[in-house]
Amino acid sequence: MKKEDEALILGQHIQSNMFELKDKDGLARIGVLETAHGKIETPTLLPVINPNQIMVSPSDMREKIGIQAIITNSYIIRKSDKLREIALEKGLHHLVGFDGPIMTDSGTFQAHVYGKIKLEPLEIIEFQKAIGSDIGTALDLFSEPDDGREKVESDLMETIARTKMSAENKGNMMLAGPIQGGRFPDLREYAAKEMSKIDCDIYPIGGIVPMMERQMYFTLADAVLSAKAYLDPSKPVHLFGAGHPMLFSLAVLMGGDMFDSSAYAKFAREGRMMFSDGTRFLSELRELPCHCQICSTHTADELRHSPAKEKLLALHNLHVSFSEFRTIKQAIHEGRLWELAETRCRAHPTLLDGLKCLKKHNDQLERHEPLSRNLAYLYTSQESYHRPVVTRLRKRILERYEPPASNMEIMFPEATKPYSRTFAEPMKMALEKADVNFWADSLFCPVPLELDEMYPISQSVVPEFLEPDVLREKENVLEQFKEAGMFKSEFRKWTGIETLEGLPAKSNPMPDKNQQRVKAVADLQFGKGAGAVLLDGKVELVVSKNNDRIRNVLVDGKHILSMRAGDGFFTLKPEGGRILLKAFPSPLLRVIVNADSAEFNVLGRNVFCGFMIDADPGIVPRDEVIVVTESDELCAIGQAMMTREEMLAFKKGIAVKVRDGIGKQG
Ligand code: GUN
Ligand code: ZN
Repeated sequence: MKKEDEALILGQHIQSNMFELKDKDGLARIGVLETAHGKIETPTLLPVINPNQIMVSPSDMREKIGIQAIITNSYIIRKSDKLREIALEKGLHHLVGFDGPIMTDSGTFQAHVYGKIKLEPLEIIEFQKAIGSDIGTALDLFSEPDDGREKVESDLMETIARTKMSAENKGNMMLAGPIQGGRFPDLREYAAKEMSKIDCDIYPIGGIVPMMERQMYFTLADAVLSAKAYLDPSKPVHLFGAGHPMLFSLAVLMGGDMFDSSAYAKFAREGRMMFSDGTRFLSELRELPCHCQICSTHTADELRHSPAKEKLLALHNLHVSFSEFRTIKQAIHEGRLWELAETRCRAHPTLLDGLKCLKKHNDQLERHEPLSRNLAYLYTSQESYHRPVVTRLRKRILERYEPPASNMEIMFPEATKPYSRTFAEPMKMALEKADVNFWADSLFCPVPLELDEMYPISQSVVPEFLEPDVLREKENVLEQFKEAGMFKSEFRKWTGIETLEGLPAKSNPMPDKNQQRVKAVADLQFGKGAGAVLLDGKVELVVSKNNDRIRNVLVDGKHILSMRAGDGFFTLKPEGGRILLKAFPSPLLRVIVNADSAEFNVLGRNVFCGFMIDADPGIVPRDEVIVVTESDELCAIGQAMMTREEMLAFKKGIAVKVRDGIGKQG
């Protein structure tokens, strides 16, 4: 029976309101949210429309700026006799003159700012339904960053209870369930866990407006990431009241999908123009440093004296905001969002505090960190040293790398990459004399030279002069490597040819550097011991005639792995998959699919979310994985598009891009 039919018989509401992933980089993602009035591609901004005072009409915004959806306030509509009547009679979309997706807020903020208002949580849900809101919001209780723990906790419990009630009564309307918890990360986590159990469609992070007004970006980042860690990954995360383009890239990097703000209008009223690096008063501008339609056709002076100044400034502000989202989306496609956010956060010292908070949540970020990216790692600042890509590499070398037998360890200084080419001569000289194991003093950590073509080692651009803090940290990491016993014999830093003086005599034959590379990369990519089992047999390596680099790995005549030129990792071949399947117990390296899926996966079709039984919790996006049935029969091999949690939570989208399907006879 088809899923839809089953749902009908069970009397369940068919979920057409769904969020589908299109692309991602870490926690940042591009998604599509379906609503009753059309799709919203995220990340995006929902401009706030005040129905009492429409500065730019939503249809104008759509035509001129390309906005997709708006947000308005159901409490404000309900309070005005005139607006309420039109909304109830002709609908919300008629009232604001927009036939696209409309989200409504509940009046929480008004209640919070203006004190007690007469409003029952279910009344406002019923009202939002009655006027035809696409996405309604529960009436949460707003916590201030200065509120004490007890108050925040009791407000949170009430918010959860109200959201539960609201979800039970949401009908066909999508529901936003706000995450409160004030300045307490553990309460944000608790809120996320509890709210994820409730049938909401969107999770906004609430209570952050005062944090932005007071530029408490560390607290803000801490709140967002603490919540994000425990929110249902298949639901979009909204940041209530976040509307400055300066903040968008960092917010998206932390997993923010949707944003709303009235800042574009408020700032325009105050004569202020938004830019991706801050805000400027029009009165102080001699030039308009922007290429939007408004700024390209007016001088600063003309704009100052235009009778339509307010509207023009609002349009400029919207243009800059939406242009920033296009920049962010392109950065996600390219794998460049970290660089973008690090650059944007230098616009204001307080934003740097937000960036610095990411280090605290490194484990969480690393779980979503892709195996590799298409573009190189660019060091922009000392914060770049704390990206999850760096900690991942260090951790994997410490845990998975097995140094070959040696009687000397030599570490070369940072140099042109790949290091093994730069230092080919001294390596050859040293290996003729002794059993030397080679390292490079890379930014990330001491790097075994067998790994030097692997992302991000060769694919990184690092300045020659590093900040004192980073140099100190690098020394600490070297100590950590020494203490972990990574150097099995005497350790020397390469200072020139004299480093080779007094080397202990050679006792082993000349090592096959290429085979050592295959083993080391396989261990780092698939897990400790993978290299040994994969290479157990007669090994033949096909090497590129152009550049001498490893292309294919054959064992006992069977092609098991191909090394990718771009990132230096392996593409798994069916025969390689078979070996790993035997060597690693379930669920390691596996995506386990149900029988409906297996039937198609053996034919080479992709694995879709919703057909999954389980997966290795260690899988990261872009990992090579083995697709198996519940009884651990090999179906296919391919590339994971997401983490296990995402594969299990999403109902739509590709979980594994299958490269080769494998029937029983293989
Ligand atoms: N608008 C700005 N902040 C909030 C919030 O915390 N909750 C709701 N419902 N709306 C908001
Ligand atoms: Zn402009």
